[in-house]
Amino acid sequence: MEVKRAKITAVGHYLPEYRMTNAELETMMDTNDEWIRTRTGIQERRILKDEDKATAFMGCEAAKEALQRADVSADEIDLIILATVTPDYFFPATACLVQNMLGAKKAFAFDLSAACSGFLYALSTGSMYIEAGRAKKVLIIGTDKMSSILDYTDRTTSILFGDGAGAVVLEESTDETGIIDQIHYTEGDVNCALYQHAGGSLNPATQETLDSRQHYLTQDGRAVFKKATMGMADVSLEIMEKNGLTPDDVAWLVPHQANLRIIEATAKRMGLSSEKVMINIQKYGNTTAGTIPLCLYDWQDRLNYGDNLILSAFGGGFTWGSIYLKWGIK
Ligand code: COA
Repeated sequence: MEVKRAKITAVGHYLPEYRMTNAELETMMDTNDEWIRTRTGIQERRILKDEDKATAFMGCEAAKEALQRADVSADEIDLIILATVTPDYFFPATACLVQNMLGAKKAFAFDLSAACSGFLYALSTGSMYIEAGRAKKVLIIGTDKMSSILDYTDRTTSILFGDGAGAVVLEESTDETGIIDQIHYTEGDVNCALYQHAGGSLNPATQETLDSRQHYLTQDGRAVFKKATMGMADVSLEIMEKNGLTPDDVAWLVPHQANLRIIEATAKRMGLSSEKVMINIQKYGNTTAGTIPLCLYDWQDRLNYGDNLILSAFGGGFTWGSIYLKWGIK
């Protein structure tokens, strides 16, 4: 049987207008611009202020732009996979809300929860449907309203994240461009290093979970930093070696934007110079499922047809992985 290949045919994005700078955070908690910049690389992040808008809205806006750029109408979409850890509701899935907002009448839609690796897990899953011939046009969306689960009294976590969304259209490739390989890993975070403790079926919302601030994201920054640095660097090198790629063969590293130091360590391990690394963490912070498509969006005019890209991420779960693709937009 002939194996098909999936390729990205367009990228869209959505970023809220409001910019929360490090200076603004200084007025809210005991922190400072210098600490945030040198420890993380972040200068500002976007925050969705509209109270009646959330993750689905951002994902839908990103998807609309991607569809328009691909010249594909919503009713041609077969499948929507939406990666998020900040769904509008526990159920229905945020992907179902987006399906309705877009008017993607024949698409089936589901959410995928893999935190900061969510976009990569979703891209792998969507590409399989095309490779198997079960779908022709797939929308992959990474969208998170992280500000909805941030504790702005906790300076160790709230400074890191922002809101935003990115989306790509996947279609069948007719040549050598497209998604070539993927490696994914999971290791259950038994020590609760990166968790949102309450709100699920184990700890449903009670006055006590609210009073003890258990509905917010919590993390052991140092433990996550160590794991993330090792995980992202190892898997990025692994996918290069598996595919016989030298540093010269790789045009761009498209890394999850959690911390500039993690990105630099990954690039160093791959033998890549800094000019080959997409970095926009200074503008958006960590938008969780949004970081990788937002990089592709910002860099799309600088990408050449056939460029080898390595997409890499690490996130809560723990989840991590890499995708190797040849850029297929002319
Ligand atoms: N402003 C000022 N000081 C701060 C601060 C802030 N926002 N946050 C922490 N500090 C202080 C700490 O209290 C600590 O003080 P102490 O030495 O007096 O105890 C000091 O800075 C160093 O803290 P530490 O946690 O060791 O800093 P770090 O260099 O590890 O950086 C993170 C902290 C969170 C930036 C870093 O660990 C990180 O990026 N971790 C990974 C996070 C991540 O990627 N999460 C998402 C999943 S992909």
